[in-house]
Amino acid sequence: MTNNLLITELVNKHGRERSSLIPILQSVVENESFISKDRMRQIAKELDISAADVYGTASFYSFLDVEERGKYVIRICKTVICDMQNRNEVLKAIKGMLKISVGETTPDKKFTLLETNCLGWCAEGPAMLINDKVHTQLSPEKIRLILHDYIQEKTKQV
Ligand code: FES
Repeated sequence: MTNNLLITELVNKHGRERSSLIPILQSVVENESFISKDRMRQIAKELDISAADVYGTASFYSFLDVEERGKYVIRICKTVICDMQNRNEVLKAIKGMLKISVGETTPDKKFTLLETNCLGWCAEGPAMLINDKVHTQLSPEKIRLILHDYIQEKTKQV
């Protein structure tokens, strides 16, 4: 959705109060995958708050992306239990296969690689998310199979 139409729609749905900010930001991410600076300015205007306030909130929460991401966002757990379960080998396999480092997106905009705190799957670590789908008990070999499916678009997770 272009121009201010999306924001107008979201403000009508969630309201103009300060407490509407997070639901509006979440909806922007659902619609456009990230919150652009233009969107932040539009939201600030609609809610009558500063753009800095909107940016501060958006950048505080890791689930509110303020940068454009790839179609598939990989979030590999960096917390200690996964770390003790060879997550570094898994990370190395992902980097090697996609030829990107943490924080980067592949040139074709298909994958973004990020780290995250504990995903709650410690007993089955190392764990990662690809968009909303959790992958557990990872190994370099399993990474090759999983990513191969995403590269081939064989996965149902889109
Ligand atoms: S430490 Fe990785 S999922 Fe909990």
